[in-house]
Amino acid sequence: MFVTFEGIEGSGKSTQIKILKTALEKIHFDVEITREPGWGAVGELIRKIILDIPDLDLDPFSEISLFCADRAQHVKELIKPMLNKGKIVLCDRYFDSTLAYQGYGRSLDIELVKKMATASTLGLIPNVTILLDISVNTALSRIVERPGRNKIDDESFDFHSRVKNAYLGIAKDSPRVHIINGEDEEAEVHDKIKRCLSTNFSIFSRL
Ligand SMILES: Nc1ncnc2c1ncn2[C@@H]1O[C@H](COP(=O)(O)OP(=O)(O)OP(=O)(O)O)[C@@H](O)[C@H]1O
Ligand SMILES: [Mg+2]
Repeated sequence: MFVTFEGIEGSGKSTQIKILKTALEKIHFDVEITREPGWGAVGELIRKIILDIPDLDLDPFSEISLFCADRAQHVKELIKPMLNKGKIVLCDRYFDSTLAYQGYGRSLDIELVKKMATASTLGLIPNVTILLDISVNTALSRIVERPGRNKIDDESFDFHSRVKNAYLGIAKDSPRVHIINGEDEEAEVHDKIKRCLSTNFSIFSRL
């Protein structure tokens, strides 16, 4: 079972993935957490180029190519092998991020971005995607002080608004994507995620 988490910066993806892992392990699931970009040797190098070196002036096409390269390696080297072992894989960002950020955030050609993002999955589409939806103001207030801010955290209000709206459009077009209000308290968001998974998937009925 492959579950992805999406949402703008600070929407609570990393927080909720950790809590969900614990909840799933309590009911004896074998769970692997991972994130994009930056898994593995290739991914770590790519993450540095995209996010961590402030004065690299990446063209949007270079940026999307790097994200897609990172994903293909991640799928091949980690996600598919873990799923083949029967694990539940919880992934912090996946191909919807490419469409939202590079397609709508950076205004690249949408059809091209869709093709690149889909190809980079090597055919592995998530069983379910949890979209944590928060306002851009909430996002900016949550990330303003945190250590390790990266280049995408520093983008403008308009950029984050385009990404947020893109995610809502993706959810409208795809029954795979479930919108959860991320403005509530952590425990309440967690309960909503559990309810969503347990009502839609029999494998999660004990959550
Ligand atoms: N429901 C919540 N209410 C208030 N604060 C929250 C909530 N969920 C997470 N936070 C806080 O907001 C900040 C961002 O959360 P988190 O790192 O989980 O977001 P994220 O979606 O993983 O962000 P990014 O995309 O930048 O990695 C953290 O300081 C976290 O403690
Ligand atoms: Mg995170």
